[in-house]
Amino acid sequence: MHENKFEFSYKVFDNIDELPEEQRSLLKKAQEVSDHAYAPYSHFHVGSVAKLINGEIVTGTNQENASYPVGLCAERVLLASASSQFPNVPIEVIAISYKSETQKNDHPVSPCGICRQSLQEYESRVNHPIQLILGGMTGEVYVIDSAGKLLPLAFTKGEL
Ligand code: THU
Repeated sequence: MHENKFEFSYKVFDNIDELPEEQRSLLKKAQEVSDHAYAPYSHFHVGSVAKLINGEIVTGTNQENASYPVGLCAERVLLASASSQFPNVPIEVIAISYKSETQKNDHPVSPCGICRQSLQEYESRVNHPIQLILGGMTGEVYVIDSAGKLLPLAFTKGEL
């Protein structure tokens, strides 16, 4: 028997103004595009912005439905759009923000489990890590080198 251990580190910035210029402007855009979310049920508006390695910018927002499970998270809307418009072009970085109508927006939130699975597969299929920048409308900002770090022991296409 032996024990395996995962270690995971990420950067924490006190606020958006501490970020380098490019990361700051991507997070600002993610804050802005959260207004494009369709979230009449959760009142939780998520905005995401990707910069691809070819310089293109792609955005995504959560899109809900009266049949709740039909709804899509901002991250997967973004990935589907990036893959459709620019197939196989690696994504360098994704900034994610949110605006809740009922809670404070003063801390980062991280992608849900399903989105982690999608992000991990995107990274591995184009063989390039996706940096994540996570922040609310105010407060701390997390920068994670690779989305795959959020999903240790991922189930991958290698099993199929
Ligand atoms: N949501 C996202 O868009 N991304 C996440 O990572 C977490 C949750 C959306 C889904 C739903 O429309 C609303 O936020 C509340 O769960």
